Amino acid sequence: MKPTLAQLLASRQARLPQLTDAYRVSDGSPWAEVFIDALAERLLVSLRGSTLPTDLHQQLQESGLCVYLKQLDNDVKLPPQHLCGPVLPPRFPICENGVRYIMDMEAGYSQGIFLDQRENRAEVRRRCIPGTTLLNTFAYTGAFSVCAAMAGATTTTLDLAQPCLTWCRENMQQNGIDPAKHYFCKGDVLHWLERFARQGRQFDAIVLDPPTFSRDEKGRIWRVERDYAKLVAKAAACLAPGGWMLCTTNCRKLSTGAFRRMVAEGIPGAQLRSAPMPFDFDGEPYLKTIWADM
Ligand SMILES: C[S@@+](CC[C@H](N)C(=O)[O-])C[C@H]1O[C@@H](n2cnc3c(N)ncnc32)[C@H](O)[C@@H]1O
Repeated sequence: MKPTLAQLLASRQARLPQLTDAYRVSDGSPWAEVFIDALAERLLVSLRGSTLPTDLHQQLQESGLCVYLKQLDNDVKLPPQHLCGPVLPPRFPICENGVRYIMDMEAGYSQGIFLDQRENRAEVRRRCIPGTTLLNTFAYTGAFSVCAAMAGATTTTLDLAQPCLTWCRENMQQNGIDPAKHYFCKGDVLHWLERFARQGRQFDAIVLDPPTFSRDEKGRIWRVERDYAKLVAKAAACLAPGGWMLCTTNCRKLSTGAFRRMVAEGIPGAQLRSAPMPFDFDGEPYLKTIWADM
């Protein structure tokens, strides 16, 4: 029998880590092409098709929760729209493993965190110790930096977009971390990696979680399927002896095997370990994760 929304919420909540109120409620099943995330007291429903299934719409209305709807396949990527339930402030904190992150329903297409990286964030926190130096590239709102900083690491957060760096500072402050004790670099990742290598600057840990497709400041195109090995190699040149790298991609076109080969090519001699997606992402296993230890 098809589970109800209430049953899905209860079964996910029963398996979540402590102090976590953000998770995937349904991942393309039982409603095909519909993905529901719980973000504190709100639900975010993302749709690949154009219509919301009627039975789901009714259950969302009956849930009494604040529900937002986002269209995934529009050419123009629009922010989610309020669908039903109470109207709550669009900017609010969520909690994951006791770490707070600011969400913003009006920030654009992405709301501040990628929930599918929950286990990787927890592992970054476990691996860091006071004094670890961590470089977080393609940082977005700096969630990996926050986790590393919570464990006592000194972080360098790197992104093309200044608002992302500002958001990262706010996420740190939410958790009692002083951003002034951390470093922030605005600009292109490849450019900064080359600069760090020239300066002989090395990090104990590097996070590589790029978008599938990007343009640098000069408009040059970068694609995961073509350029990931080169990115890993440039990062490896900035990795301290005995350091580690988190390599991930959500590129659906790339197989796990092909991704592993690219990472191995970029950082020869490293010990590689793949990791699965969190339990609540039980649909297509699109996120590939490799931990590379030197
Ligand atoms: C998929 S998000 C990364 C998610 C992030 N790692 C996390 O866990 O939240 C992509 C980010 O990469 C940044 N970005 C895209 N191209 C870039 C480039 N060439 N150099 C630096 N940052 C870039 C974007 O501004 C965006 O914040």
